[in-house]
Amino acid sequence: MCGIVGAIADRDVVPVLIEGLKRLEYRGYDSAGIAVINDRDVRRVRRTGRVSEMADAAAAEGFDASLGIGHTRWATHGGVTEANAHPHISHGVALVHNGIIENHEEQRERLRALGYVFESQTDTEVIAHLMHYHLKQGGDDLLAALQHVVKELTGAYALAVISRAEPERMVCARMGCPLLVGIGEGENFIASDVSAIVQATRKVIFLEEGDTAEVTRESVRVFGADDQPAQREVHVSDVSLASLELGPYRHFMQKEIHEQPRAIADTIEAAVENGFSPALFGDKAGSVFEDIEGVQILACGTSYYAGMTARYWIEAISGLPCNVEIASEYRYRAAYANPKHLVVTISQSGETLDTMEALKYAKLLGHAHTLSICNVPESAIPRASELVCYTRAGAEIGVASTKAFTTQLAALFQLAVVLGKIRGMVDAEEEATYLEALRHLPGSVQHALNLEPQIVAWAERFAPKQNALFLGRGVHYPIALEGALKLKEISYIHAEAYPAGELKHGPLALVDAAMPVVVIAPNDALLEKVKSNMQEVRARGGELFVFADQDSNFSESEGVHVIRTPRHTGVLSPIVHTIPVQMLAYHTALARGTDVDKPRNLAKSVTVE
Ligand code: F6R
Repeated sequence: MCGIVGAIADRDVVPVLIEGLKRLEYRGYDSAGIAVINDRDVRRVRRTGRVSEMADAAAAEGFDASLGIGHTRWATHGGVTEANAHPHISHGVALVHNGIIENHEEQRERLRALGYVFESQTDTEVIAHLMHYHLKQGGDDLLAALQHVVKELTGAYALAVISRAEPERMVCARMGCPLLVGIGEGENFIASDVSAIVQATRKVIFLEEGDTAEVTRESVRVFGADDQPAQREVHVSDVSLASLELGPYRHFMQKEIHEQPRAIADTIEAAVENGFSPALFGDKAGSVFEDIEGVQILACGTSYYAGMTARYWIEAISGLPCNVEIASEYRYRAAYANPKHLVVTISQSGETLDTMEALKYAKLLGHAHTLSICNVPESAIPRASELVCYTRAGAEIGVASTKAFTTQLAALFQLAVVLGKIRGMVDAEEEATYLEALRHLPGSVQHALNLEPQIVAWAERFAPKQNALFLGRGVHYPIALEGALKLKEISYIHAEAYPAGELKHGPLALVDAAMPVVVIAPNDALLEKVKSNMQEVRARGGELFVFADQDSNFSESEGVHVIRTPRHTGVLSPIVHTIPVQMLAYHTALARGTDVDKPRNLAKSVTVE
């Protein structure tokens, strides 16, 4: 969703702002803008559409400045218009904002009564006028004004502010939305996401809830929620420039699908080297895991499907009861809470609002222990959790989650085995078998990637379709759900997934010759059942597209197409079977000419409700 970048330097910062905004494009946005201070004046350019159009306009107007802020906006309050795009300006004060101000109506009325005129429908413009109001009241100090303003705001915000009256500094504030300060040599930066400034510096300070900060060329001063100076650690980010660039690939989604053997190998590295130790989940994990009697998983979208898969592993391997719930549902329900049930949140971005709120709600209900499985270091959800396990997928730029999902699965499998060991449900022999399966996983995933040419051929047949059904059973049912989600979000083909046994209870009515039915049919205990379900489809004229393990005795026949996935990989088979459904969605979208990395209406980090 929205993105922020700011810079103060001895050089022209306009290219830094533009590049930063381009690197934030992946989050999803519909307008972009920058404001700079030049000759004691504020200059601004905003455009709906792509950052490149806004950048062309800035170049045409000869923008050149050593202080500036920029923003990509994903519309919430007010439509996609230039007037609603950020930065918003009030009497020489320009600001950009991520988040939602809940009391904006009330503040708007108050400001109108004071004579302020509004040009946009946004909640953000309220903050710009409030800044000006407080500057007038309080002696023209930008930082003091910001510290006053944030106390009058209810809601979530990351803010970066500049003023034509103060060309030597920018100020910023954070509450409920991520914001960091980047430390350079004689130049400093503000960003909502480290990827926006990684071309300039890797040294960053993550602001904490309620913090404000003053950033000049030479210094950074952070203040806590009480406005007193606060010490914050300087981190060196491991996000690499290469991970943010396409390289030889056509899309980030394609790149990220192909990065999975490496991403999984990195995520399982510690377990492969040192075994299934609680330490994989943090220093305190041993004592926490000994204390728990169940698991409650909370997540959204693809991460929720990772949770659904994990439930099969956790219950089978550790014997603990495991419940999985969509975070946005859980947070509004009088849910049963057992303090001894470990709350596990799963989130690629670590900033999904629904998941964050569900976590807070679970704590409120009395859950004593929380674990975050997350891909973005220092993001909000892991920071609010007792235990953390970072997946090591690297930056995921494509809106459709791929490598984050399979690395989440790898981490969750490790969790199941660690819990099983602690509870005496996994003996040394079983542990060795699980370790061996984990060791082979990156190779099996690579093998599945080699199926790409066959999947391209299938994708040609899917491209003209309006609908598709995905079937799976047991632990592969969530993979069918994930396959359907991937197909719908990037190709816009309507796709649904069902546990194959459920077909005859309703969805079979949809099946005719126009309906492609994708079946995930690994060589496991449920294979014969799945075969019967396939007969039900064939008998109604449905066309079957079957992913079957090499060692499962499947043959093609009329209306039955088969792609052979690697030999059955046992307990980790869902991870291997994810790869072909991802590639099917990718190549179908390619054949339909959709914007694969930035599907319509979607954002990478969903920081609103
Ligand atoms: C689908 C997808 C989304 C996310 C969901 C949760 O491809 O990416 O469904 O999985 O928005 O996001 P995170 O994992 O960042 O909490």
